[in-house]
Amino acid sequence: MTSNMNNIVIDAIVTRREDHTDEIAVFDLAAADGSALPAFEAGAHIDVVLAQDLIRQYSLSNAPGSAGYRLGILNDPNSRGGSKRIHASLQEGARVQISAPRNHFPLEMGAEHSLLIGGGIGITPMIAMAYALKAAGKSFELHYCSRSEAKAAFLNELKGEFGDRLVLHFDDAGDASRLDPKALCQAAQAGSHLYVCGPSGFMDWVIAQAKAAGMPDKQVHFEYFNAEVDISGAAFEVYAQASDITVQVGANESIAMALKAAGVRVQMSCEEGVCGTCLCDVIEGTPEHRDLFLTDDEKADNDQIALCCSRAKSARLVLDI
Ligand code: FES
Repeated sequence: MTSNMNNIVIDAIVTRREDHTDEIAVFDLAAADGSALPAFEAGAHIDVVLAQDLIRQYSLSNAPGSAGYRLGILNDPNSRGGSKRIHASLQEGARVQISAPRNHFPLEMGAEHSLLIGGGIGITPMIAMAYALKAAGKSFELHYCSRSEAKAAFLNELKGEFGDRLVLHFDDAGDASRLDPKALCQAAQAGSHLYVCGPSGFMDWVIAQAKAAGMPDKQVHFEYFNAEVDISGAAFEVYAQASDITVQVGANESIAMALKAAGVRVQMSCEEGVCGTCLCDVIEGTPEHRDLFLTDDEKADNDQIALCCSRAKSARLVLDI
């Protein structure tokens, strides 16, 4: 393992690859030198480094405490290169660099009950959560929404591990199979927490339904794994205080782009407002948040900004970079 830009870089090897569907492959990773990989919590993800400028995040889907890391990766036709590259190149025995696990999507283990909802490939963090809750003897239900049974990965494992706590919702199975998040939230006992991951539209819908059912924001947890962010808007000025550099952020560039052009390095990963890697403290001014990483409360605090996508409501921002 080597340390690079505050990230641990691990040389890993693909010990097993299984193509579960025509679009989803499941990869088991171990350290290439045979050492133990860092422990992880349910909800954690790792970076997979495909090239210097092609780093993607994937959730760990195996049971926390198990030896390796398991990733389920969709070969997304809208991929900007990451998942296509992985599907084409990561065969058994292939080497790949990964980061240590990070967790922006932790479980609230004190909850009375947990509703886990995964849409499509968004099932992956939910599987690790279900394992953690099961191991702790906690009450939970795992809802897996997929277009059809043929498009659903991990099915045998989930059925075997979670039995009647697993509820499958297939789009082609008719109304009886349809997920009703509002009804689920209304039926859940007070103090239940909801976790959702999946395509953005699906997540927006589940979150809105949970809110409509009266579930408090702090009991609704989510992690977007991709997004289309509009970075455009009116130009503004940024003073990078630690670097003592002022830049103008143009109408169609991000703060990160403007800072990079002026020689200020911004650490980024997803570049689409979902991972939190580029967060920076705001010293003065008001951000216009475009990211999907910060919670509504964190956004309202206006003391952090995602430099890859967010802009300014004020004419000037002073940032701690
Ligand atoms: S780089 Fe991922 S949120 Fe900005």
